[in-house]
Amino acid sequence: MMQVMHHRAQGVKATHRLENKIYILKIKITGGAGFVGSHLVDKLMLEGHEVIVVDNFFTGRKSNVEHWIGHENFELIHHDIVNPIFIEVDEIYHLASPASPPHYMHNPVKTIKTNTLGTINILGLARRLKAKVLIASTSEVYGDPDIHPQPETYWGHVNPIGPRACYDEGKRVSETLTYAYAKQENMHVRVARIFNTYGPRMHMNDGRVVSNFILQALKDEVITVRLFKFSRPLHSVLILFFYLIDSIAIEHFSIVIHIIGCIEII
Ligand SMILES: NC(=O)c1ccc[n+]([C@@H]2O[C@H](COP(=O)([O-])OP(=O)(O)OC[C@H]3O[C@@H](n4cnc5c(N)ncnc54)[C@H](O)[C@@H]3O)[C@@H](O)[C@H]2O)c1
Repeated sequence: MMQVMHHRAQGVKATHRLENKIYILKIKITGGAGFVGSHLVDKLMLEGHEVIVVDNFFTGRKSNVEHWIGHENFELIHHDIVNPIFIEVDEIYHLASPASPPHYMHNPVKTIKTNTLGTINILGLARRLKAKVLIASTSEVYGDPDIHPQPETYWGHVNPIGPRACYDEGKRVSETLTYAYAKQENMHVRVARIFNTYGPRMHMNDGRVVSNFILQALKDEVITVRLFKFSRPLHSVLILFFYLIDSIAIEHFSIVIHIIGCIEII
């Protein structure tokens, strides 16, 4: 499941699809060498767009996009999004951020910087260029939720100094920044709250439950299930997993992730 929220500012170019013709766009993807980002790269490249990936390779790998290296429409830039970058583009997908707990807890301050300073840099660039921008957020903005499943209208239940706070609060500020820019600067933005997703190119050491299961199975080890690590009581645990394969359907910021698997533990 992915919740995509819309803000359509007046006076901003609303679409690049006119008279049933698709126009080639120059698109920047931060975090494009990561798991989700690299599938987005594939989709947009196959549609014939020009794609620029900006990534610091903290969790992403060149091998995820190596099949496009050398293509005239593709560019890969090694850059940390905490520092400003200026490239002329029509649209920006901002995915740069570690996503799995071991990775984002490895350097909590850096995780916060990536989701705050990084997002400010991206929104500032989009404002100057009048480019559309999509920010990848997360279901973790709901924290340890009191209600399941969470509707968009639910504001969450987050511990601001808990072990996941660097990510949860970082993404919450990222969303707040996005809507503040949209309102104040009349920008065209989207925020996508992605829920637990797994699939090809996921980091082997991602540390989340599905890849852990697969690793343990491959190593012929006992498969472990931990439900209490972050104090969610068994009766209220609802875990949803979404399988992301080469099927991210993107129609210029209207993103649908095809759901193949879904497990509920109640
Ligand atoms: N995979 C999921 O289940 C899931 C769930 C919710 C939200 N998300 C969000 O989707 C986005 C992509 O997640 P993913 O699963 O592909 O993770 P990933 O770790 O595979 O990809 C993240 C990418 O961002 C890059 N990156 C990190 N910090 C950076 C920085 N400071 N500058 C430049 N690049 C940087 C990494 O090198 C990597 O390529 C993230 O924003 C994440 O929060 C993912």
